[in-house]
Amino acid sequence: MNVRAQHPHRSIKAAESQLSACCTISRMSAQPSPYAALFHPLDLGSGLVLPNRVVLAPCTRNRATADLGPSEGAADYYAARAEAGLLITEAVLVTRQAQGYLDTPGLFADSHVPGWARVCDAVHARGGRIFAQLWHTGRIAHSHWARVQPVAPSAVLDPILRRQAGGVELYNEMPRALEASEMAGVIDLFAQAASRARAAGFDGVEIHGANGYLIEQFLRQHTNRRDDAWGGSLQGRLRFALAVVQACLNEWGPHRVGLRLSPFPDFGEMRWTAGDNETYIALLQALSSLPLAYVHTGITQDLPRAEIDGTPSQFLRRHWPGVLIGNGGHNPQTGQAHLSARDFDLISFGRLFIANPDLVARLQQGQPLRDYHHDLVKEFR
Ligand SMILES: Cc1cc2nc3c(=O)[nH]c(=O)nc-3n(C[C@H](O)[C@H](O)[C@H](O)COP(=O)(O)O)c2cc1C
Repeated sequence: MNVRAQHPHRSIKAAESQLSACCTISRMSAQPSPYAALFHPLDLGSGLVLPNRVVLAPCTRNRATADLGPSEGAADYYAARAEAGLLITEAVLVTRQAQGYLDTPGLFADSHVPGWARVCDAVHARGGRIFAQLWHTGRIAHSHWARVQPVAPSAVLDPILRRQAGGVELYNEMPRALEASEMAGVIDLFAQAASRARAAGFDGVEIHGANGYLIEQFLRQHTNRRDDAWGGSLQGRLRFALAVVQACLNEWGPHRVGLRLSPFPDFGEMRWTAGDNETYIALLQALSSLPLAYVHTGITQDLPRAEIDGTPSQFLRRHWPGVLIGNGGHNPQTGQAHLSARDFDLISFGRLFIANPDLVARLQQGQPLRDYHHDLVKEFR
């Protein structure tokens, strides 16, 4: 299916008429919102109609159970935000061997499915839609949790101090370069997690290809020093990302798989190298013939960078013809401006959604927002 045929600006009318027939989506207020551009519906295709343009950005909450299922509180946490057009979960591990932070949940065992099913049921009961973000940290895993040496495209250390565990500072470890013979198994981890996400009742999956984790480690020359089919050339660096996308599409079918990308490196010690732009442009061109639900910017601040000739979202907009979720330090005013200008089609909020579980109602009614402060990550409501 051609993604261009699903372009959001041509599908608003169809989405509105489908919405009017849909009784599960609540109308929050008769008053026009000051952020009207955030409140147009969008048809992602394959029966997935978003009632507004506001997305919960994936935010790790470090509250998984001992066996890395979602916490008891996760169902209430996500359900409280169900008025968003789309919720994307915190990053969810596709293997225990990718764990790099405290108490991050997974979908790498069948025992994780019932916990996530409770989350999906709670969100659906409130009329919401939810994608699971599938995650392999690569070199950012840590043997403290993963119990094995981290794996990566190449043995390139991220030397930046990353996290605390029970008061102990943990430094990143030198990763082991994956053998070519292991690659099919790593791709299959994503396929299996995508399949479990279906079993749990999610509406789709987002592949975490951003923020310096395994997929980005394969894309960038700084971290991919291989000379085999999984590196060594632009096509080689694309191979893993495209294989993971295809594996997830095989599980889910059209318009239920999104991909998060950081066209400018953001997190940890991930470096931009001349030639990386061409890699991302070629990736987006290859993806444009696939029925992805969307591409999602992954960046802390969506600000202009000379290396990519604009902001990360602008870079993606230039080279990606399908639905784009903008992200990175935005607020309702910038969201309204960018959506009105069609710089992107949806906007995700991370920190504002942590601080304001009722963000959508507040935006609808033009109410003031509670500012985000790092201490708020200790709250879980
Ligand atoms: C506490 C916290 C946890 C985060 N965890 C994730 C994550 O699991 N996956 C991901 O892709 N991004 C993660 N991010 C990044 C956010 O999705 C988002 O890109 C970033 O916060 C910028 O958007 P904002 O300004 O709307 O918060 C996290 C951000 C925060 C603040």
